[in-house]
Amino acid sequence: MTKLTIAQLLKETKLQQVEAKGWVRTFRAKRFIALNDGSTLNNIQCVVDFENTDEDTLKRITTGAAVHIKGELVESQGKGQSVEIVVSSIEILGDSDPETYPIQPKKHSFEFLRENAHLRTRTNTFSAVMRLRSALSFAVHKYFNDNGFNYMHTPIITGSDAEGAGEMFRVSTLDQKNPPLTEDGSIDHSKNFFGKDTNLTVSGQLEAETYAMSLGKVYTFGPTFRAENSNTSRHLSEFWMIEPEVAFMDLAGNMDLAEDFMKSVISYVLEHNAEDLEFLDQRLFDEEKTKPQAERSELRLIEKLKFVTDNNFKRVSYTEAIDILKNSKPNKKKKFNYIIEEWGADLQSEHERFLVEKHFKCPVILFDYPANIKAFYMRLNEDGKTVRAMDILFPGIGEMVGGSQREERLDVLKEKMAVLDISEEELWWYLDLRKYGTAVHSGFGLGFERLVMFATGMSNIRDVIPYPRTPQNAEF
Ligand code: 4AD
Ligand code: MG
Repeated sequence: MTKLTIAQLLKETKLQQVEAKGWVRTFRAKRFIALNDGSTLNNIQCVVDFENTDEDTLKRITTGAAVHIKGELVESQGKGQSVEIVVSSIEILGDSDPETYPIQPKKHSFEFLRENAHLRTRTNTFSAVMRLRSALSFAVHKYFNDNGFNYMHTPIITGSDAEGAGEMFRVSTLDQKNPPLTEDGSIDHSKNFFGKDTNLTVSGQLEAETYAMSLGKVYTFGPTFRAENSNTSRHLSEFWMIEPEVAFMDLAGNMDLAEDFMKSVISYVLEHNAEDLEFLDQRLFDEEKTKPQAERSELRLIEKLKFVTDNNFKRVSYTEAIDILKNSKPNKKKKFNYIIEEWGADLQSEHERFLVEKHFKCPVILFDYPANIKAFYMRLNEDGKTVRAMDILFPGIGEMVGGSQREERLDVLKEKMAVLDISEEELWWYLDLRKYGTAVHSGFGLGFERLVMFATGMSNIRDVIPYPRTPQNAEF
């Protein structure tokens, strides 16, 4: 490691002897190396004295090579940078083959870069996205830490299906070809590693509830897994979820928390990652210019982020939303794939996007959904047919957050579980929370990659996680 990163060198005002290690982005006219070490979007220009450098070394300064440069930091003669390094010695640390190196100094498609995900962070776009991902992750922990939350690690391997969706990855050590069988011929999970059937978690919520009911304010931030076969630009089979859970907080408090939290993490990157955001703002703007006028976004990326931090999210009940949708143009003209006919319909992403992008034009919190389209643990309202659920919908993304006030009444919860055939035996510990000192409590889950998509303006979720896991794809 050299003492200063390129990010730091570029800010130096004292002219001095320096060293830099990094990867060559370009080498122009046998003289100018654009060097990058990942610490910043910007390259440092290194000026090589080609007359006094041997021919072999000059040949080995190619795009992608790792080099160690020593020289003098001076004011730059050229445009575009304030300082540059006049090279006194250059050592090639690792050669790159210019014939086969995939990341050429030109525009590559995101599809191509996905196939080369191990090298794509050597491009400006992906290094900016991943630095932002890292900063957002820090901002998440900072927010909760500043607000008195305890960080809790919920298990990755679980015996329960929190969302009741049944789309889980099984964790098993049984011989797949010849599993032990019970008398009735089904697989004998008592012989399995954990003595029972287990899966990768779809959510840490149920366990987080147990800690909320003792530590008060907690959150989890970890990987979650869903075996749903949704090959869309917004779904991953492995994604990271942030789930706060708070005792004595109702749904209104939950909405306030979610809104304040999202504004806070977005403000954090606006303040601390301006350079990367400006680059992505320009990238998106250039991309949008190639689209027809009607499909272009009205706001640029940074304007969109500021819009979110400066304006209140619109809070709308499911019932109001259904009325808006029923009377909407695309519904009347049968432009939606799923026509909204009556109260009770599950909202598809086309409806969510209509509400946020066309109707309200801002983030929307939908609440009080019909009980039968939501999970068993949500608190039943006095009307007996809706639950205290909330989804936060974002322009360009759709559902960003899903949360609720939890059912704290033992009898109501048991009834609900019976109807849905959820075993009381399996969730005995969850029911215990309602037996011993039950109280109003609430929480939500935010898909971290969807947040990164929004903050970076990237339109495919595969481009905001280092190595995406999706149906038929687990490369790297
Ligand atoms: O709405 P979901 O399924 O809610 C829960 O899991 C609750 N247990 C959360 C809670 O109340 N603690 O998922 C929460 C969020 C979604 O709003 C979405 O942002 C994200 O997780 N999400 C996904 N992100 C990427 N790929 C997927 N397949 C996702 N499924 C959900
Ligand atoms: Mg949801």
